[in-house]
Amino acid sequence: MKIVGTGSEIPKKIVTNDMLSEFLDTSDAWIYPRTGIRHRHVISDEKLEDLAISAAKKALDNAGLSASDIDFIICSNVVNEYITPGLGCIIQGGIGATCPAIDINCACAGFIYALDIAETHFQAGKVKNVLIVCAEEPTRMTSWKDRNVCVLFGDGAGAAVLTAGDNIKGIKLSTASATDKLYQIRTLEPTPYITKQEESISLQMRGQDVFKFAVKASSGDIKYLLNELGMSPDSIDHYLLHQANIRIINTIRDFLGQPESKFPTNVETHGNSSSASCPILLDECNRNGILKRGDMLALSAFGAGFMSGAVIMEW
Ligand code: COA
Repeated sequence: MKIVGTGSEIPKKIVTNDMLSEFLDTSDAWIYPRTGIRHRHVISDEKLEDLAISAAKKALDNAGLSASDIDFIICSNVVNEYITPGLGCIIQGGIGATCPAIDINCACAGFIYALDIAETHFQAGKVKNVLIVCAEEPTRMTSWKDRNVCVLFGDGAGAAVLTAGDNIKGIKLSTASATDKLYQIRTLEPTPYITKQEESISLQMRGQDVFKFAVKASSGDIKYLLNELGMSPDSIDHYLLHQANIRIINTIRDFLGQPESKFPTNVETHGNSSSASCPILLDECNRNGILKRGDMLALSAFGAGFMSGAVIMEW
């Protein structure tokens, strides 16, 4: 398959580090050097579904296709206002498509997992065009009293349209169960029979463990693929990594021994928007003319699970 269109949508509300320090014991002087984040876009009066639908429509427009051309929608989403139906169903109606839609929850690595599912459908000959939409509002998962976590995240949606082609050179997915490092727990409706103790817990993170996992998983996934394909890190033109933290990105870059110019970033202005991060960055690079047809791209993402994945593709 190949990517023939991209789109993204981010909330209009910009929250700077200085704005956070008005109600949290934090500062730009702490956040920026440790994360590379200056500000993030946070949902206020928007609905995530509307951002997702807008990103999807932009990707279709960019591809020169209409909703009726799409055979399958894969939506990557951790939380939104609906528990059911899935966000993919809402997007399907919102863009006027009639094809099947599924949701996946692979946290920040969702775009790579969605690409893998799409590639499998192409290989099976089941689809001609697929729409992937990654839409996330992690700012609704964190406690805004918890300076350890809430400063890291922003919201948004990114989408990609795929059609038949031979541009995906390889995809590597990795999962290593670790439920105590990065997690959120919600309570469900009570029943007369529930006797166990239950409590809602906002997004919790062991930052240094997550940092180490991210570097190891991402550089490992990319190196695995390069090795499988008989390629060297030098043969990749652009590395589009999950925008969680500039220090994570720089450490992976050091592992790969590659120049900064190959690593476009937007973490400074977006923060970590979970699975939306990679497709938003891809869309920005596509629209800014950074990506040229024939360029070799490595995308890599990592997050809760722990789940990670990488893809090497020709643009
Ligand atoms: N503002 C000010 N101080 C803060 C703070 C904030 N926003 N958040 C934490 N601190 C404090 C801590 O309370 C701690 O104080 P103490 O020493 O008095 O106990 C101190 O800063 C150091 O905390 P620590 O967690 O050791 O900092 P760190 O150097 O590990 O940096 C992260 C924290 C979160 C920036 C870093 O661990 C990281 O980037 N982890 C990966 C996070 C990530 O990307 N997650 C998503 C992946 S998908």
